[in-house]
Amino acid sequence: MTYVITENCIKCKYTDCVEVCPVDCFHEGPNFLVINPEECIDCSLCEPECPINAILSEDDLKEEDKKYLEINTRLSKTWPLITEAKSAPSDAKEWENKPDKLKLLEE
Ligand code: SF4
Ligand code: F3S
Repeated sequence: MTYVITENCIKCKYTDCVEVCPVDCFHEGPNFLVINPEECIDCSLCEPECPINAILSEDDLKEEDKKYLEINTRLSKTWPLITEAKSAPSDAKEWENKPDKLKLLEE
């Protein structure tokens, strides 16, 4: 089992999640973070850290969010590790809970 970062993180990228991870399995892209499912030990510490509830257990993914497991798996293979929080994009607040953000994901 793994935790998965889902659509709401796109263009928000608050990074509050990364510092609690005991196994450093967060990877950073231009406007999104992903979790490496092969490294995640399912400790659940990161889930409450995200202020916009973008992190979910694999078991709690809704049907429309299941594709994010594949997206996290694929992008964590090439994106660099991130272990320290950083400033969110200046317009992050405006993008919270906006629908249809997947098309804005920069790989
Ligand atoms: Fe890291 Fe635990 Fe979150 Fe998995 S569930 S990404 S191990 S903090
Ligand atoms: Fe994204 Fe939430 Fe982490 S917005 S970077 S999953 S704190």
